[in-house]
Amino acid sequence: MSQPPSTLPSSQSSLTQAVLELKRQRHAVILAHNYQLPEIYDVADFIGDSLELSRQAAQTTADIIVFCGVHFMAETAKILSPNKTVLLPDLAAGCSLADSITAEQLRQWKTEHPQAVVVMYVNTTAEVKALSDYCCTSSNAAKIVQSIPEDQEILFGPDMFLGAYVQRLTKRRNMHIWPGECHVHAGFRAEHLAKMQAKHPQAEFILHPECGCVSQCLYMMDQKQIKTAKVLSTSAMIKEVANSPADEFIIGTEVGIIERMKREVPGKKYYPLKETAVCEYMKKITLPKVYDSLRLNQFAIEVPEQVRSQAKRAIDRMVSIG
Ligand code: 13P
Ligand code: SF4
Repeated sequence: MSQPPSTLPSSQSSLTQAVLELKRQRHAVILAHNYQLPEIYDVADFIGDSLELSRQAAQTTADIIVFCGVHFMAETAKILSPNKTVLLPDLAAGCSLADSITAEQLRQWKTEHPQAVVVMYVNTTAEVKALSDYCCTSSNAAKIVQSIPEDQEILFGPDMFLGAYVQRLTKRRNMHIWPGECHVHAGFRAEHLAKMQAKHPQAEFILHPECGCVSQCLYMMDQKQIKTAKVLSTSAMIKEVANSPADEFIIGTEVGIIERMKREVPGKKYYPLKETAVCEYMKKITLPKVYDSLRLNQFAIEVPEQVRSQAKRAIDRMVSIG
């Protein structure tokens, strides 16, 4: 195999070409989350939400997975594809929500509720997943909770806003919710809804279930103060803007997704619910870092086998439910 060049190509288009060429030489696949930068979209084989990216990681025949997302997502890819090299271009790409519960805290919580079934959002470390019975994502959390017998106590975490939304949908009383949050989504408030509603009265509201204003938004819809509001995972948002008869949307999630909407569904209008909603962890992944990741095999994600096999059980249970 020819030696990859050691200097960084000078223009963005030559860097894009260099990444695509290295990807081919290395038999690598690039998986990118919907919040990634546009230049990452340009080199990605697949762009999606957490559940879709997990599925892609499990199915790929490539030797190397370069994960353009955050650490827990790359770890999930490694759990599902232990024989592949999984690379995260910057180890500082973390997640405030995943940091909001540690394995030790979950162990302690479980001792307080020894009979409970543990359902943890995919935004958690491998160690936390290994202590869980089920994993879930924003697109299947309610379905997972509904699949658990009604009389069974549940520990749900770590996102309290997703937890409250799932509780509202499932009417589950015996569900304890961990008080964790994502620092980007928790910042969405009722005043943002009211301001945007006044500015764009015809627009459809689309919110991520991690948003701090989900309950107020659904209440406003019940009160007919808002025409339509939908609570969706990031990829379900892309499908919604494509399929909805509406022409204008207020987007309640990380603003990066709007670029994907503009690319895939041009001709409609997208207004961020909060313009400053940027996940700095997602933005740690840049094209030069992807290039170096492929060139230098950095940074390989490893998960100890015992943790991996236990975490995989929780993910497999999720995937088998949907
Ligand atoms: P999705 O699974 O909806 O893409 O959400 C992941 C995430 O980190 C949201 O902040
Ligand atoms: Fe984590 Fe929030 Fe960033 Fe999503 S937006 S990766 S939940 S910190």
